[in-house]
Amino acid sequence: MPARLEAQVCDITTLDVDAIVNAANESLLGGGGVDGAIHRAAGPGLLAECRTLGGCPTGEARITAGHDLPARYVIHTVGPVWHGGADGEPALLAACYRNTLALAADHDLSSIAFPAISCGVYGYPHAAAAAIAVREVQAGVVRHPAFERVVFACFDAAMLAHYQALLE
Ligand code: APR
Repeated sequence: MPARLEAQVCDITTLDVDAIVNAANESLLGGGGVDGAIHRAAGPGLLAECRTLGGCPTGEARITAGHDLPARYVIHTVGPVWHGGADGEPALLAACYRNTLALAADHDLSSIAFPAISCGVYGYPHAAAAAIAVREVQAGVVRHPAFERVVFACFDAAMLAHYQALLE
């Protein structure tokens, strides 16, 4: 049975899935946006575990426990900062989704929720980012058939509309 892909407006920290994905920075030591929300909800144990990881290069992913979150795991990935699109941003954003799904599959996870990586502070144009997200996840759930559910956790209706147009 192929995985169900869905998009909804929600606070990703509330989702009861195997893993939620954090749009982090290369230090993995927290920040604002969804990174700040996840660390606030997970509690200090998440930062303590992140300190043991030694950072994460842009486009790659690292996994930690979920700590005080409903989600069992957090997969931290670092999206590209948007510099106009000729600096390898599309490939790096695609790598975030691909590497996150591969890491989740390595841990036999079946449900995962993504925020709109790079679409906040990092300034990635929303429609283009959503198209990369949906394309990579659609390919990823074929590559990794154990996935049952992927949620695109949007923080507002405008972002949701981008995903819904792509998922129809
Ligand atoms: N749940 C779901 N989505 C959220 C939440 C939340 N609780 N909070 C914010 N978002 C959305 C934003 O509205 C945006 O669409 O997550 C998307 C990603 O935005 P950012 O969190 O700003 O992430 P990003 O653009 O990838 O920038 C990463 O910001 O917080 C710092 O430490 C982080 O330096 C890193 C940078």
